[in-house]
Amino acid sequence: MRELIATARALVACDKGLLAMDESNPTCNKRFAKLGIPQTVEPRRAYRELIVTTPALGECISGAILYDETIRQQKKDGTPFVKAVTDAGIIPGIKVDTGAKDMAGHPGEKVTEGLDGLRERLAEYSKMGARFAKWRAVIAVGDSIPSRGCIEANAHALARYAALCQEADLVPVVEPEVLMDGEHTLERCREVTEQVLRTVFSQLYTQRVALEGMILKPNMVVPGLTCPEQETVEEVADATVWCLLRAVPAAVPGIAFLSGGQSGELASARLNAMNARFKSRLPWALAFSFARAIQQPALEIWRGEEANVQAAQKALYHRARCNQAARRGQYDAAMEKG
Ligand code: G3H
Repeated sequence: MRELIATARALVACDKGLLAMDESNPTCNKRFAKLGIPQTVEPRRAYRELIVTTPALGECISGAILYDETIRQQKKDGTPFVKAVTDAGIIPGIKVDTGAKDMAGHPGEKVTEGLDGLRERLAEYSKMGARFAKWRAVIAVGDSIPSRGCIEANAHALARYAALCQEADLVPVVEPEVLMDGEHTLERCREVTEQVLRTVFSQLYTQRVALEGMILKPNMVVPGLTCPEQETVEEVADATVWCLLRAVPAAVPGIAFLSGGQSGELASARLNAMNARFKSRLPWALAFSFARAIQQPALEIWRGEEANVQAAQKALYHRARCNQAARRGQYDAAMEKG
């Protein structure tokens, strides 16, 4: 348990955060397709090499979440990615759910799968060098959803996954994501997020998960993407922090937000506002575990071309640095210039 707690704390230490580079092959391929990048193993490997070899990334990134294909891959020179990540001062982690599937009897809702055989997979990943793991549940918001059945099934699976992780000495990153898609208001997102988090923590307690040895990866409390009223950065920060204060026990060492499709700048600005306004009064660290909000500009620069690697790495490092500044409440839009 001491080691688990130390790893969980290390993941949110020094104002660093996590880099989620754990897109499944179908998700990675979808993002590649939009940019005309071939959707095969080698470009995916080359892209992940670009990420893990970004100079000085370890200054701002504490942990990298890998995908099953990636954790088994190497750099062109034969160095395993796990070693490259570790040598950069970054803790390797692994996504272990097998995806969100349509939930029987619950139209429009999903339940995340992957518990079968998980104990054995965790043992294998741990042997490969992973020190933490991630499982994502998705909760859609609509007129009559989310249902109690969907929230409870996903919370139960998250808690069973988290207990298995701790048994295997891996820190669970518990990710219940309330989706941004839809017209719902910020208030509706707050209400659903609070309900989801309360259910998740109740299940974590029931399944005997030690809160000191885990990280929570939630959504920010934001209005739906097509909601006509879009609140300010400060209003989002306030709603998010107040929601978390009501639902997340103080024993949790860190909360690392997903970005969920927000632009890199907006995600940094909102995280910054939370830390600038509340940091000294919070029981847990407020950090980041972004995929798109860190990677997207780099991916758009790279486009599968070797000649663009350096420029893409610069863009990746820039977003990571902006988010470290946001953890300090020192991010400024001026950082985006030049
Ligand atoms: O599971 C989702 C990723 O870990 C976070 O991705 O920041 O693009 O939402 P995102």
